[in-house]
Amino acid sequence: MAKATKSNADINHAPAAKTVGAAPRTFRTSIDLKPNVRSSCIALLNARLADSFDLYSQLKQAHWNVKGMDFIQLHELFDEVAERTLVYVDDIAERAIELGGYATGTARMAGASSSLPEYPTAATNGQEHLTAVVERMALYGKHVRQCIDEADDLGDKDTADLFTEISRAVDKDLWFLEAHLQA
Ligand SMILES: [Fe+2]
Repeated sequence: MAKATKSNADINHAPAAKTVGAAPRTFRTSIDLKPNVRSSCIALLNARLADSFDLYSQLKQAHWNVKGMDFIQLHELFDEVAERTLVYVDDIAERAIELGGYATGTARMAGASSSLPEYPTAATNGQEHLTAVVERMALYGKHVRQCIDEADDLGDKDTADLFTEISRAVDKDLWFLEAHLQA
């Protein structure tokens, strides 16, 4: 039986990165993926690079600013999740380079292009920080999951695999975070 394939119209597209500054640059490469596949995947990767860097900084914001009786365990948990997120930043940026792209990875570029909302400065206690972090982690995970199908549909199974790996790890961290709020 023929395997059902998703048409482009069936895929829920993740938000694209906003264009910031100069037009994106590309470089010649001997990798055996067509230029249009590469450029579309580079755009997906740079959009999620912005989200990942933004999420990393927001997790550190929670790590530094949380207060209350659960301080030490949340302080440490937020830092562990941030460290894992920093690995996604590097893996996503390097995949964009492997495809002949240019990684738009400064903090300013990430802030201007991120699809995540800004961190609430009013958050103080553990529950407020957990609520803010869970909301952003869930949105980040949703957009990464959408990129699995988008990269697969474009014909780049390795980029889809990278997004799958990140998506699975994000689901686990979302569980670790959200379990605190599930009575
Ligand atoms: Fe620290």
